[in-house]
Amino acid sequence: MTLKTKFSVSSVCLVLVVVIGMTVSLFWSERRRVINEMNLSQKTELDKLVQVFLESSYLSNETIILNYIQQLISSDLKVFCAGTAETTGNGWFIDRTSPAINPVGPQDPLITSILDAKKFQKKEIVSRKGDRVTVLSVPVATKGELKGFVWLGYSWNEVSTLIGQNLWQKTTQLVAVALISIVFGVLIVQILIAALTRPIDQLMRAAILISKGKKGVQIPEEGEDELGRLTKTFNRMSIELTKLDELKDDFMSHVSHELRSPLTSIIATVELLKEMPLMEKDSKFKRQVDRLSFGSERLNRLVDNILDLTRMEAGKMPFDFQPADVARILTEMADFFEPRAMEKGLKITAIVPGNLSPALADAEKIRQVVSNLVHNAIKFTNSGGIILSAKEKSGYIQVSVQDTGVGIPKDKLRRVFEKFECLKDTKNRVEKPLPGSGLGLNIVRKSIEAHGGEIWVESEIDKGSTFIFTLPIAKTGSPSNESGSSRSGQKSEFKSKDAEIFLKNDSKEDQKTAL
Ligand SMILES: Nc1ncnc2c1ncn2[C@@H]1O[C@H](COP(=O)(O)OP(=O)(O)OP(=O)(O)O)[C@@H](O)[C@H]1O
Ligand SMILES: [Mg+2]
Repeated sequence: MTLKTKFSVSSVCLVLVVVIGMTVSLFWSERRRVINEMNLSQKTELDKLVQVFLESSYLSNETIILNYIQQLISSDLKVFCAGTAETTGNGWFIDRTSPAINPVGPQDPLITSILDAKKFQKKEIVSRKGDRVTVLSVPVATKGELKGFVWLGYSWNEVSTLIGQNLWQKTTQLVAVALISIVFGVLIVQILIAALTRPIDQLMRAAILISKGKKGVQIPEEGEDELGRLTKTFNRMSIELTKLDELKDDFMSHVSHELRSPLTSIIATVELLKEMPLMEKDSKFKRQVDRLSFGSERLNRLVDNILDLTRMEAGKMPFDFQPADVARILTEMADFFEPRAMEKGLKITAIVPGNLSPALADAEKIRQVVSNLVHNAIKFTNSGGIILSAKEKSGYIQVSVQDTGVGIPKDKLRRVFEKFECLKDTKNRVEKPLPGSGLGLNIVRKSIEAHGGEIWVESEIDKGSTFIFTLPIAKTGSPSNESGSSRSGQKSEFKSKDAEIFLKNDSKEDQKTAL
């Protein structure tokens, strides 16, 4: 799960919990409020009934209270019944189910409980017809003299329906507000997460570039918060790494240059020694000279490779792009390597179509590329042969160097193009392993990329490997030394595509685009 998903899920859950929690607590407080309101209105109605009862008994006119109760029952659906009783317990009541005035006496259980209560009482009863009724009763007295009792019965069904209706209205409002809050909450959270994870994303991508060996990687610095400071520190670290890398490259190139002249003298001396008659006569002398020759050639190759690599990485390798005859290069290379292949009992062949279009390439550099690949193919093949071939595919010349060698493990196919990568797995399976510096394929890849092509390898253990690279086809009719085509005839200096992305002198705008 990515950081963004984790943030999103947890913050959306947080928003949901907060909104749902608030909605539930609002619902309960609203419910309490509605019930309190209902109780208050019932109390007010009972007080009013007491007033009318007193008025009616003062005027000795029962019609007043009767009329009032009938009017109350017809105007308020909640009121199920109402009645009065004298101090003796004899009285009457009217209920909603019949217009008749019903008499009651002290033996009636409701009246008994009302007479027993000395003050306000709330009681749940079931009417004769089975309705649940909440009865509120109160003794009525003036100047300390008890005059009688009044009671009001509320239908439980009607009251709860009314509460339900009130609450339903409020609940729908609350749910609507909750949904809107959730939508806005989630939106705001998403914006916050995007703002938070964008710099982390940039840091991650820049770190990947650095891990791939890119120099001068920089990311836009925004804000002074923790992430802003982290970005600044990262950029400083990247600059320091680049400086260190450049220092190392300078050192390597300097040492290689210093080695070059004595090495040339050694190789020249070895050539002279090889021509001496002692070579034929003294086997010990010959062994020493051969060892010297092998060692000096290896060292010379290493120095060449280091110088090529440092020049390429510094963007100082000159390329002269011209229409190049790839078919011819491959045939020449096959002829050149034939004696060396035959020494190992290997057959080397070039299979190229006669009408292959010219590639837009620096022929000398392509010779070096093919030479490196064929060199490897001979080195890592015990028996069989090597086939060099070329064909046209999707606007490119596709060149293959195929061998029947020891092969490369599937998980190392990409690694072989890294600097100083020499696989133990392959070396151990070769009958007479030769030493190597692990620079050849890295130089090959950089050279092909500088041509605007690609290189990859397909391989199967113990069956062989095929290194394939592409080169752009030169546009027909392009004059070899003029800039008629986009790259034809141009002198160019190598600069890796990725290395250009975050070079420290790039403008902020360019850096942003690159990210
Ligand atoms: N044709 C091949 N078959 C099997 N393994 C190969 C082949 N070509 C390259 N490799 C593997 O890839 C590694 C890197 O190759 P690369 O050419 O870069 O270095 P090298 O040949 O060891 O040394 P250098 O070329 O610098 O003298 C080799 O050491 C080898 O393990
Ligand atoms: Mg090699």
